[in-house]
Amino acid sequence: MIQTIPVGLGARSYDVLVGPGLIDRAGEHIAPFLPARRTTIVTDSNVGAHHGERLAVSLEQADVAVDVITVPAGEESKSFAGLADLSDRLLALELDRGDVIIAFGGGVVGDLAGFAASIYKRGIDFIQVPTSLLAQVDSSVGGKTAIDTSRGKNLIGAFHQPRLVLADLDILATLPDREMACGYAEVIKYGMLGDETFFAWLETNGADVLARDTAALAQAVGRSVEMKAEIVAEDETEKGRRALLNLGHTFAHALEAETGYGETLKHGEAVAAGCGLAFRFSVALGHCPPADADRVARALKAAGLPGGMADVPGYPFNADRLIHHMAQDKKAQAGALTFILARRIGEAFTAKGVDPDALRQFLITEGALP
Ligand code: GLY
Repeated sequence: MIQTIPVGLGARSYDVLVGPGLIDRAGEHIAPFLPARRTTIVTDSNVGAHHGERLAVSLEQADVAVDVITVPAGEESKSFAGLADLSDRLLALELDRGDVIIAFGGGVVGDLAGFAASIYKRGIDFIQVPTSLLAQVDSSVGGKTAIDTSRGKNLIGAFHQPRLVLADLDILATLPDREMACGYAEVIKYGMLGDETFFAWLETNGADVLARDTAALAQAVGRSVEMKAEIVAEDETEKGRRALLNLGHTFAHALEAETGYGETLKHGEAVAAGCGLAFRFSVALGHCPPADADRVARALKAAGLPGGMADVPGYPFNADRLIHHMAQDKKAQAGALTFILARRIGEAFTAKGVDPDALRQFLITEGALP
């Protein structure tokens, strides 16, 4: 069964389709968006090698002419150099304003191709076909696109909404277990920030989601996308409620900065540790019952994810260095620390102007070095 989840943004509204078999039927879903009956697939060397042919064949069967641009797999492609290279290759194909490109891959490809689409000839349309769990439940929906710079991740970018998102659950069968767990961190984050019933469902069914049981995946991805769509429709450019999606991310970015943004600690793992810390910090500040923070840590660890700082390779970290990284965060305004905290599982809120001394004390209590 295919779920259709609308993202309501007026003239820029679009649907996210979630279900099995969508890549093989991509042609019929995408062709109506291609009046010129041609498209360019932007993919990476891994996804392209394993699944590119199937997507291209499906489009060709729908009478769509297909060009393919393959970028190197890995975060390095999400750079000024990667953007210049992709833009140049799009120009060489002589795409015009009426053309639509397809981002076929995980978060890196979605962010890079989406950003290129936002600036190519002042903006062309694009369609997301996300191939990782993380991209399906988070980065492909909501129009955030960006590249990294030497000063930090995702610092140069644009809001550019896709015209359609196809989240094929079958493709997750070949996703490495560690990548599944990373995506699961973002799934369970939705329960933590806004839906206690979904969190409880994941406590019981999380193992089936991770084992790629189709029904469990459909429920997990569908509910995650539904929550993201609802939040984005209400606050597209993150002036308010959309910031709740950053639960755990301030701690996560600091831990990623300390561990080098690489294989030591992947983004989803950092988000998991960050969510554990956000709940414990909420407890320390008197906002949240300790039992909820314990439940969050248990649920994360049950999925093989870090539940707090002590589970992160490289522990113990230096408290002042972590705070320094947090102050560089995009969400920090005029040097004031902003955190997404929780009153309980299912109720997150934005806390502005958090006291740096209270933060430092908390980090030391969690085992950071003074
Ligand atoms: N990944 C957070 C957001 O899209 O707002």
